[in-house]
Amino acid sequence: MFKNILKEFPILDRKINGKKIIYLDSACSALKLKYSAQAQMDYLLEYGSCAGKRSTHYLSELAEEKFHYAREKIAYFINSLSEEIIFVSGTTEGINLAANSLLLNKSDEIVISGLEHNSVFLPFYRLSKEKGIKLKIIPLKNYQPDFSSFKKILNKNTKLLCITAASNIFGGDVKYEKFLNEAQRMNIPVLMDCAQYAPSHKIDINKMGDIIAFSGHKMGAPFGTGVLYIKKDLMFKMNSSKLGGGTIKSANFSGKNIKVELLKNYMSFEAGIQNYAGIWSLFKTMEFLNQIGMENIRKHISNLAIYAFEKLSSIKEIQILGSDFDKGSLISFKPLLKNFSVQDFSIYLSDDLPDYIIAIRCGKLCADLPSLYSGIDNVIRISFFIYNSEKDIDVFVDSLKKYLKIIKK
Ligand SMILES: Cc1ncc(COP(=O)(O)O)c(C=O)c1O
Repeated sequence: MFKNILKEFPILDRKINGKKIIYLDSACSALKLKYSAQAQMDYLLEYGSCAGKRSTHYLSELAEEKFHYAREKIAYFINSLSEEIIFVSGTTEGINLAANSLLLNKSDEIVISGLEHNSVFLPFYRLSKEKGIKLKIIPLKNYQPDFSSFKKILNKNTKLLCITAASNIFGGDVKYEKFLNEAQRMNIPVLMDCAQYAPSHKIDINKMGDIIAFSGHKMGAPFGTGVLYIKKDLMFKMNSSKLGGGTIKSANFSGKNIKVELLKNYMSFEAGIQNYAGIWSLFKTMEFLNQIGMENIRKHISNLAIYAFEKLSSIKEIQILGSDFDKGSLISFKPLLKNFSVQDFSIYLSDDLPDYIIAIRCGKLCADLPSLYSGIDNVIRISFFIYNSEKDIDVFVDSLKKYLKIIKK
């Protein structure tokens, strides 16, 4: 456990109705760092003005300076250029924006892995319905996208591959590297959903796709913050689907008609006033995590994942889903008893234990595609972040065993 870390998460440091909270739902949303909340509040109170070079007064110039600095630092953390960073409200907005900004034709094909979250699946599903683009899905084999099927569905019309860096439903590693290499070999751009990857892995865009997206709220930053990275060369070939203030280069009359020229850089994707305070806090959060060290965070979470896997493996009434758990940040499993309701179990953990309130996630987990392709739709997921310890897992496993005894009676 990191020194003094619980002080950063006041809710974990106190009792509610006499019970301690054990938070094992960070894959949904991590608890927020006090440091980040404070950074957001300080920003709001000290610089509550707009940035983006709209106004030229003192406060606006300060706001622009901070906005620019946050972009440069976040770019530095992920090894990109600052003009490749687009601020968004989260992974969902980032992927929708990217999907709808690609210039696609009817004959084009998009390949997505069967592991994708609804925030990847649905924007491309709709594009396929509305624009007649072909959507091809890579089927799953042992909770992984099947590489040989992938190779068969690629062709000269493939315009994008989407593959998640870490699944939100199956624990462990997504072996994305060979997919990435194959797509790059064929000059096919790759979009990687990094929502589950970013909180506990060092992102280096030189080893990832051409487009990546992640959310601040899963790493302890405020809600409504996130990053969409688009490689510069690709960004120039896209047209932002979101337009408004800050996205225009010029507007003129051409005879009787109006002719508008739009910006062609990251600014064209950030229409309107931005969440400056949230972005500042996202930068401070990433700085905080980098100061702990992403490798140290990874090690801590890997140890917890292995520990949880070992403890859960001895329970014969469940089936653990996934493999290579030390590479991921969550473990999910499916109950094998017919009368085991995952929802009732979640309520039991939250309401019925004498000393603890345990927060977990259960159900389909916004992952309809993996659910369709694996036939698994009712899972229990526990997920880890910097505040978790082995004791959290001990209490969870003991409670699961008690629940199994109750329903077997
Ligand atoms: C793998 C994955 N992708 C995308 C998302 C969507 O993230 P957000 O709701 O922060 O936009 C989630 C959220 O749980 C996720 O787990």
